[in-house]
Amino acid sequence: MSLTQWQKTRQEPGPARAASAADDGAHGRAAVRLTKVSKVYGRGSAALLALDKVSLTVAPGEFVCLIGASGCGKSTLLSLVAGLDEPTAGTISTEGGRVSLMFQEPALFPWLTASRNVELALRARGVPRPQLRQRAAELLETVHLGGFGGKRPHELSGGMRQRVALARALAQDADVLLMDEPFGALDAMTRDLLHDELERICGTQTLTVLFVTHNVREAVRLGDRVIVLSSRPGRVIDEYLVPRRGPRRIDSVEVAELASQITDRLREEMSRHGS
Ligand SMILES: Nc1ncnc2c1ncn2[C@@H]1O[C@H](COP(=O)(O)OP(=O)(O)OP(=O)(O)O)[C@@H](O)[C@H]1O
Ligand SMILES: [Mg+2]
Repeated sequence: MSLTQWQKTRQEPGPARAASAADDGAHGRAAVRLTKVSKVYGRGSAALLALDKVSLTVAPGEFVCLIGASGCGKSTLLSLVAGLDEPTAGTISTEGGRVSLMFQEPALFPWLTASRNVELALRARGVPRPQLRQRAAELLETVHLGGFGGKRPHELSGGMRQRVALARALAQDADVLLMDEPFGALDAMTRDLLHDELERICGTQTLTVLFVTHNVREAVRLGDRVIVLSSRPGRVIDEYLVPRRGPRRIDSVEVAELASQITDRLREEMSRHGS
């Protein structure tokens, strides 16, 4: 695939993602829609503007990655979409879909087994008790942890714990999965495996994903679209479409080429902010 096929949307929306670009309009179908969302923390002289009029539309089934400097408001944005906090201005709609949030740390209950951690999420969404064990086992199988259901978190590796967290997020049967640097603490091999898993899972169901990462290659490896946020206060300053043409590899030339364009854009933004 040539570099010209890896397009920057502002300049020339690519045919491969034209439908999604159209969905980005005010009236298109959306799984998540943010309209001029601002968030101020604190009051008076201590007030801090974290997000500034962020507008963003994510189409059903779309995988959108958010990238931006530390402190630019990425986690804030996810917590607003998850409904954990209210925007100061603007509106957020998730079209009534179920939303699930996955953090950088697996945040499992340490006294519960992997299976029980997943079962808890199943119970919360009303799965009948007799089905819990079986459904949890299926989900653990999905993340390649079959046979580990009886282990407690401390008996699992970091990557395995994060896979349990992924199974728990999937147990919520969410329409929208919000992922905040979920693989940031993992080694490259485990992270690659989880990328494959996530890609496979997204291929088997209509799951809309909003994925925060500091790793530009990871964003290009996974995303249909990569949104670049400005340094704080977070604003959308650019977006890049990534055509889907079969499985990608994080170390492929295409991924590296687009990632380097995006990295240059980020550097430019950071140096502008720093000057
Ligand atoms: N609950 C809070 N109360 C006050 N300020 C907050 C709160 N949460 C975040 N902030 C501030 O809002 C800004 C954005 O924080 P946020 O955690 O959203 O950034 P981020 O882009 O996720 O950063 P990182 O990449 O380091 O995770 C920061 O300046 C932070 O100090
Ligand atoms: Mg964060």
